[in-house]
Amino acid sequence: MTRHFLRDDDLTQAEQSEILDLAAQIKADRWGRKPLAGPQTVAVIFDKSSTRTRVSFAVGIADLGGVPLIISTANSQLGGKESPSDTARVLERQVAAIVWRTYAQSGLIEMAADTTVPVINALSDEFHPCQLLADFLTIREHKGQLAGLTVTFLGDGADNMVHSYLLAGATAGMHVRVACPADYMPDERIVADADAIAVQTGGSVTLYTDPREAVDGSDVVVTDTWVSMGKEDEKAARVAALSSFKVDAELMALAKSDAIFLHCLPADRGYEVTSEVIDGPQSVIWDEAENRLHAQKALMVWLLEHTG
Ligand code: CP
Ligand code: NVA
Repeated sequence: MTRHFLRDDDLTQAEQSEILDLAAQIKADRWGRKPLAGPQTVAVIFDKSSTRTRVSFAVGIADLGGVPLIISTANSQLGGKESPSDTARVLERQVAAIVWRTYAQSGLIEMAADTTVPVINALSDEFHPCQLLADFLTIREHKGQLAGLTVTFLGDGADNMVHSYLLAGATAGMHVRVACPADYMPDERIVADADAIAVQTGGSVTLYTDPREAVDGSDVVVTDTWVSMGKEDEKAARVAALSSFKVDAELMALAKSDAIFLHCLPADRGYEVTSEVIDGPQSVIWDEAENRLHAQKALMVWLLEHTG
């Protein structure tokens, strides 16, 4: 059986925890594991721009003894001329895994459907599950646990980060709050999936339209750009609709006094978060960005071990 990581709930609570434990071990012993020695190649495909994901996968694959093959869709046959399914049939004969940043989740599902090597979602319009592994490693480092913590996301509720927070947070037994305007609510089907998971793990999912009420007593405060890739034409409308969800010092003060602030980056300073908060003492964004490397290495090690 081949294990893929297309959305956060592809992992059970125990599996998520195992990968985070492994990530902490790998962070402490960076060059200790070489499952890609040979070297084997991992294809890392980008339909959208990236800094962190590109660098952390390239470095992580090299750290694991392998070779990263970075492919821009614009210079490949994928994305118009060749289907994800046919592309996967070609790649699986030559690479150990496929990492893909794309638009529609359906493309990833097609890519993974009959593929013998792990397929990893490096961000889609719907989810950003690799980022959540890094965020959760960071939260565990600063808070010592995940289950029982209250994590609040403010901003665009239909954002891929929100959908991933809903599923990954529920899986971890966290209390996930999302504060957003009524017109920017998360996908109802994903909320329902997260609710069903939370019932099993002791977590919860709550949606708010009042940012102050949502942040009250939170352990972790999270936001993301108001203008995700592909939504640039909507910038003016989004800034108008989302301005009261900006994370500033006044809002941050409503969270617990030892609350931490996360942002997957890139940030639009002055829009979804003020410089005072993102550069302030509660911000752990640089740990979070570094942890992409360690978390994704652990994910690749785990997926390769569980495939075959
Ligand atoms: N957070 C994140 O995925 O950043 P990039 O878009 O730079 O990869
Ligand atoms: N929600 C953002 C995340 C960027 C890493 C986007 O999709 O553009």
